[in-house]
Amino acid sequence: MWVRSSWGVSLFAASLLLSMVTAQVAKQPKSSSPWLTLSGDAPMVIAKGGFSGLFPESSSNAYAFAYIAGSPDTVSWCDVRLTKDGVGICLPEIIMDNCTDATYAFPDGKNTYIVNGVSTTGWFSVDYTMKNLSQVFLKQEVLSRTFRFDGTFHILSVEDVETQVKPPSFWLNIQHDMFYRQHNLSMRSYLISLSKRIIIDYVSSPEVAFLTSISSRFKKSKMKLVFRFLEETTIEPSTNQTYGSLLKNLTFVKTFASGILVPKDYIWPVTSDLYLQPHTSLVSDAHKVGLEVFASDFANDAVLSYNYSYDPLAEYLSFADNGVFSVDGVLTDFPITASEAIGCFAHVDKNSSANVKPVVLSHNGASGVFPGSTDLAYQQAVDDGADIIDCSVQVTQDGTLICMSSINLMDDTTVTRSPLNTRSSIIPEIQTGLGIYTFNLTWDEIQKNLKPAISNPELAYNLVRNPRFKNAGKFMTLSDFLAFAKRNKALSGALINIEHAAFLAEKLNYSITDAVISALKDSGFTNQTDQEVLIQSSSSAVLMKMKQKTKCKLVYMVDESIRDADASSIADIKHFADTVSVQKQSVYPQSLEFITGETKLVQKLQSAGLSVYVYVLRNEFVSQAWDFFSDPVVEINNYVQGAGVDGIITDFPVTAVAYKRNTCSKLGDDAPGYMRPVQVGGLLQIIDPQAQPPALAPMPVLEVSDVVEAPLPPASLKPLSQTNEQNAVAPAAQPSAGPRCTAAFNLLVSLLMLIGALLFI
Ligand SMILES: *[C@@H]1O[C@H](CO)[C@@H](O)[C@H](O)[C@H]1NC(C)=O
Ligand SMILES: *[C@@H]1O[C@H](CO)[C@@H](O)[C@H](O)[C@H]1NC(C)=O
Ligand SMILES: *[C@@H]1O[C@H](CO)[C@@H](O)[C@H](O)[C@H]1NC(C)=O
Ligand SMILES: *[C@@H]1O[C@H](CO)[C@@H](O)[C@H](O)[C@H]1NC(C)=O
Ligand SMILES: *[C@@H]1O[C@H](CO)[C@@H](O)[C@H](O)[C@H]1NC(C)=O
Ligand SMILES: *[C@@H]1O[C@H](CO)[C@@H](O)[C@H](O)[C@H]1NC(C)=O
Ligand SMILES: *[C@@H]1O[C@H](CO)[C@@H](O)[C@H](O)[C@H]1NC(C)=O
Ligand SMILES: *[C@@H]1O[C@H](CO)[C@@H](O)[C@H](O)[C@H]1NC(C)=O
Ligand SMILES: *[C@@H]1O[C@H](CO)[C@@H](O)[C@H](O)[C@H]1NC(C)=O
Ligand SMILES: *[C@@H]1O[C@H](CO)[C@@H](O)[C@H](O)[C@H]1NC(C)=O
Repeated sequence: MWVRSSWGVSLFAASLLLSMVTAQVAKQPKSSSPWLTLSGDAPMVIAKGGFSGLFPESSSNAYAFAYIAGSPDTVSWCDVRLTKDGVGICLPEIIMDNCTDATYAFPDGKNTYIVNGVSTTGWFSVDYTMKNLSQVFLKQEVLSRTFRFDGTFHILSVEDVETQVKPPSFWLNIQHDMFYRQHNLSMRSYLISLSKRIIIDYVSSPEVAFLTSISSRFKKSKMKLVFRFLEETTIEPSTNQTYGSLLKNLTFVKTFASGILVPKDYIWPVTSDLYLQPHTSLVSDAHKVGLEVFASDFANDAVLSYNYSYDPLAEYLSFADNGVFSVDGVLTDFPITASEAIGCFAHVDKNSSANVKPVVLSHNGASGVFPGSTDLAYQQAVDDGADIIDCSVQVTQDGTLICMSSINLMDDTTVTRSPLNTRSSIIPEIQTGLGIYTFNLTWDEIQKNLKPAISNPELAYNLVRNPRFKNAGKFMTLSDFLAFAKRNKALSGALINIEHAAFLAEKLNYSITDAVISALKDSGFTNQTDQEVLIQSSSSAVLMKMKQKTKCKLVYMVDESIRDADASSIADIKHFADTVSVQKQSVYPQSLEFITGETKLVQKLQSAGLSVYVYVLRNEFVSQAWDFFSDPVVEINNYVQGAGVDGIITDFPVTAVAYKRNTCSKLGDDAPGYMRPVQVGGLLQIIDPQAQPPALAPMPVLEVSDVVEAPLPPASLKPLSQTNEQNAVAPAAQPSAGPRCTAAFNLLVSLLMLIGALLFI
């Protein structure tokens, strides 16, 4: 059962978030391979304070939503603290300063106490009765999460959680027993009395004395005791040994506990620069002495090792499905993501041919992992299982066609730090600021002086990509790229993206379209039938010309956010394209990362016979709307199952391909609830009216005037040399694509900066 009791208005609204009309019948998928857990069962998903990645930790919505969005098997975790009158409450921290508004409710409530030998100052629950605390509201304490649910939820007692949520499995974490004893409060008595009223499945504690004091009392009960390890150098207060030294004697731990809970880096250590080291033998060692192993600190917005390429599912799978061991459970702030990983992404046959939909297209190769458009990025995209790799074609001064994400080398190369950094110019047709353009440098100069630079689209949030490889790889010419694609028969095709064709023709007397056609002929690509060539452009003139001269599949890229396309614009697109690429926001418009609804654009284009690709999907958690829970798979699933797109253009093909191989998509209506699309816009409905994000002006409708362009002017196959450029033809009407692109980009940047300012002051 998903919804066990009446939740009140906000929880009812929360349940609207997922279209789960038939979810009650959802089955937990049975996997063919056995789990390497101690019991052989699937690892448990333990929701820390409920779905605390979204709602304030330990709030009623957080607990309830873990079941609404996640698996019905999720274990509810509560960090138990005691009030002055001995009531057990669920609160993430011993001091309430950051996780509640107690500092506001009790301005004079600050106190200093010794906690495990350390003088600690703040607002403590032991200073207040449960009745006092009814004035206090919970707050999201993690700054990378939304604050818009703050101030709506009260502190819950352990019994409140039990009666309101009825978790199928309840885990109490009891820390600081020694501290409460100093305040004449006994966790032991509390637990004994509580256990007479409710069923507690797990109790964990980092204090040996506390666990030993209750272990004989609960010997006959089903309650399992788990010893929690803190950082290795921290001293366990009742034995005065470090946790690191206690780890060396697991047989001792087994005398009072049936399991251990460890920070995840006890199992997969990470270097100081965030690369994964080989795993330790801890899980196997603990299993040998009969201890279950639970790993903590999982969160989609936590600092992830670069080895996971910002994919939180990849991290869970390295703990649960690595062929050597599996942990027995994971403690997470984002239980839905753990449920997906364990329920649908483990024990996947990597050789099985992936489902047909969606087509996975790389964006400058696997540019999330290596510098874009390099040999390494393309190889990675192939290794990851992308269907189609892409080259944004640019021309050098000497007429060599190369793959480069941008015509401006400042974007994704080291040019500003090279001797060629003087070769900048302002070319208003391309952009307002300074640029160093591919057509101003020769191919030889580029290769000798520049290195590729990895793109960091979420740098504003201090999220960078694979720093050890930030300048790795080699630049590629278009002909290298085509030869590479042709060699890799697993690819169904190659996409060539052409921009600035009108500018190059008018200003440089250079026909990039003719040059691409000639390169395609030379490559022999046009002769083969097993792989297709796609030409993508935001210019209808380019596609029109390619349609006349080639048999390539043609993709029209709408480079602005739109909410709709009128009938005449669609009719016009049909003249020159088979497929349309649209921005993410054109499908799911959003305000400050809250999705406001769903447009009918995808359906409309598809019913006109056009395929639809969506761009650009990324793994970094800040790139997904809140409605998608900082989970790249939830986002992909919504675009595929919810909106029905035909293809995904992504910096991280590995994640989209893993999505295609997941074992639940073939279950159809029997797929578990957490693999169903989210009912977008639901979160907005449960935000307090005063905390609502601003309503934005609606995005424009694509009209035929946005699409139609003058044909490309005639031009030659060799770019005009720099010296006689003055003779270039007088500028014709400017292509409308350029300015539109800039405007859309600026809007996005300012939105991101606004969110950045809100989240990170
Ligand atoms: C509370 O938040 C402040 C500011 O972010 C931080 O410095 C402090 O460590 C936090 N306290 C706790 C107990 O997490
Ligand atoms: C808490 O409640 C008690 C009794 O109701 C009252 O005397 C006390 O002043 C309250 N404490 C605060 C900080 O409000
Ligand atoms: C705890 O109880 C003892 C004995 O009754 C008393 O002396 C002490 O002040 C109490 N401590 C606190 C923090 O209430
Ligand atoms: C631990 O150390 C403290 C302070 O050094 C001491 O008071 C206490 O007796 C020690 N406990 C044990 C179990 O050794
Ligand atoms: C481990 O703990 C057990 C039980 O307390 C004890 O008998 C044994 O000597 C310890 N072993 C080591 C290596 O400390
Ligand atoms: C993590 O990535 C680094 C850099 O690519 C590599 O050297 C290391 O072996 C990887 N770690 C694991 C456990 O695969
Ligand atoms: C998958 O394919 C690889 C290479 O083709 C092969 O070595 C491997 O044995 C296959 N694995 C399975 C499970 O079939
Ligand atoms: C780059 O090429 C354009 C077009 O030929 C020209 O106007 C500009 O001056 C050149 N810039 C540099 C720095 O050579
Ligand atoms: C492609 O086919 C054409 C005619 O069928 C032929 O002339 C040409 O040599 C072929 N190109 C390659 C690279 O095989
Ligand atoms: C463009 O190049 C073609 C072919 O080289 C030449 O015939 C034509 O005159 C050139 N146009 C300009 C404006 O230079």
